[in-house]
Amino acid sequence: MQKLFLSPPHMGGNEQKYISEVFESNYIAPLGAFVNKFEKSICDFTGAKHALAVTSGTAAIHLALRVLGIKEGDDVLASTFTFIGSVSAILYQNANPVFIDSERESWNLDPKLLEAYLKDCEKKPKALILTHLYGQVAQIEEIAAICKQYDVYLIEDAAESLGATYDSKHSGTFGDFGIYSFNGNKILTTSGGGMLVSANKEWIDKALFYSTQAREDALYYEHKEFGYNYRMSNVLAAIGVGQMEVIEERVEKKREVFHWYKEELKDLEIEFMPELARSYGNRWLTTFLFKKSTNINTIIQALDAKGCESRPLWKPMHLQPLFKACHSLLNGSSEDFFERGLCVPSGTRMTKNDVKKVCAIIKENY
Ligand SMILES: Cc1ncc(COP(=O)(O)O)c(C=O)c1O
Repeated sequence: MQKLFLSPPHMGGNEQKYISEVFESNYIAPLGAFVNKFEKSICDFTGAKHALAVTSGTAAIHLALRVLGIKEGDDVLASTFTFIGSVSAILYQNANPVFIDSERESWNLDPKLLEAYLKDCEKKPKALILTHLYGQVAQIEEIAAICKQYDVYLIEDAAESLGATYDSKHSGTFGDFGIYSFNGNKILTTSGGGMLVSANKEWIDKALFYSTQAREDALYYEHKEFGYNYRMSNVLAAIGVGQMEVIEERVEKKREVFHWYKEELKDLEIEFMPELARSYGNRWLTTFLFKKSTNINTIIQALDAKGCESRPLWKPMHLQPLFKACHSLLNGSSEDFFERGLCVPSGTRMTKNDVKKVCAIIKENY
């Protein structure tokens, strides 16, 4: 029985050929032609001006915070409805996360809560890390305008939303920085990896400096600051270049899988993750909320018994024991999503019959 995973890797076809080219060049190193090509392909596709390929999406967020000068004691706003990788770098910098809840139209950060907080807060936060969750774009225009008005840097966590757009502009390109992830479960993967993008060349140059151990310009090794070993391997970048050749197909297939679920489950009392009218999501994972009370664990176990992976929606950050002392601005949305939501297999190799199989199990157990 072939297991149906939530979002397994799906190679495009040329990846191994490109890896062979890396071997032939002997640039088995965290630099080389494919690192440069991968960065260029991300810029060409998303419209980002400058890009830096790194070891993970988490590393990309860390570099953004470091370049922006976020330091001990600073407040950094963040979506509470997200994965830990969005916010762990705030702790790396010894800064304080302040979490903001979601609104119902996109399930992403609520601009009203953001504005109300910024209007009255005594200590001004330095930055906002905004997540576009499950490949759906947040109310980015409004949020970017609020950040500008209150002089708060905007870092878009587009780890899950490569290929998603708002008014035809790519998620990750609205803020001061954007990041993408190429972890094994993402719409494109390099097994592990990330990309930092920005319109500001000086910032990307500074991020390159920090990502390669902060080496000063000298023949010997001279250090005035400390950095990190965060640069992407040329071998993995070769996989990334191959993956970028199929990004458009992958987005379309993810959306098709979502529509198959929608059609198959239309008679059930459930609510699918919405999409803002001006946006075009990549539907990285198909997710929905159960409307009548049900035991989600029973459904997850029934799916698992038939080889189908499923999972509750992300547990909000403000509910994590790690963050219990942090300040949060809440409206009940993310807790409700966590209690009633489910992610279902959304792989880009899925057939309509695979989707029917998953749906039959859900119907039997709801
Ligand atoms: C929303 C979100 N932010 C950040 C990350 C971190 O990315 P990475 O795993 O590449 O460090 C992930 C995924 O893993 C994610 O889903």
